[in-house]
Amino acid sequence: MNNFTIVKLLLLGYMGSGKTAVGERLAEVLDIPFYDLDLEIEKGGQKSVPEIFSEKGEIYFRKREVEVLQELLKSDERFVLSLGGGTPCYGNVMQIINKRAGVTSIFLKASVETLTHRLFPAKQHRPLIAHLQTEEELNDFIRKHLFERNFYYHQAALTVHADTTVREIISEIVARLF
Ligand code: S3P
Repeated sequence: MNNFTIVKLLLLGYMGSGKTAVGERLAEVLDIPFYDLDLEIEKGGQKSVPEIFSEKGEIYFRKREVEVLQELLKSDERFVLSLGGGTPCYGNVMQIINKRAGVTSIFLKASVETLTHRLFPAKQHRPLIAHLQTEEELNDFIRKHLFERNFYYHQAALTVHADTTVREIISEIVARLF
């Protein structure tokens, strides 16, 4: 693959898999803009993701994810975009992504242990896991949730192991794409 065939790189994976940190750095390395789908949704509605969940509900949030994603995909711009952890798992999002020319989807695959370890200290900002009290409960939740979501995540064009550092993940992505 060369620079001319890649227009948009989409990062997907579970919460805590590093989509935002990797996306920001990857965009810098490639010298193209970076977008985070959650932030784009927040900007459009002037509300944070937890506020949207509590005031308008999850179904409304899932609809906004698809709408904002489709808006971004329409542009001719080259960019790196981090999706939300659940974005690929609702409606026909993976089909929309995989059908579109110039879009490459990359699944950041992290283990349940890594995800638990990364998410436990920051779970308050994430409406789906904020209620879980102990690390064991979180671990159990992630294991089951990931089992359901892996079906969608594995439809990505590329799978990259994400238990390592941002630098190592970027090196692997760049080596596999170019
Ligand atoms: C969600 C993941 C979050 C955010 C929302 C729902 C999910 O994004 O979109 O809280 O369903 O996994 P991150 O994966 O960026 O945390």
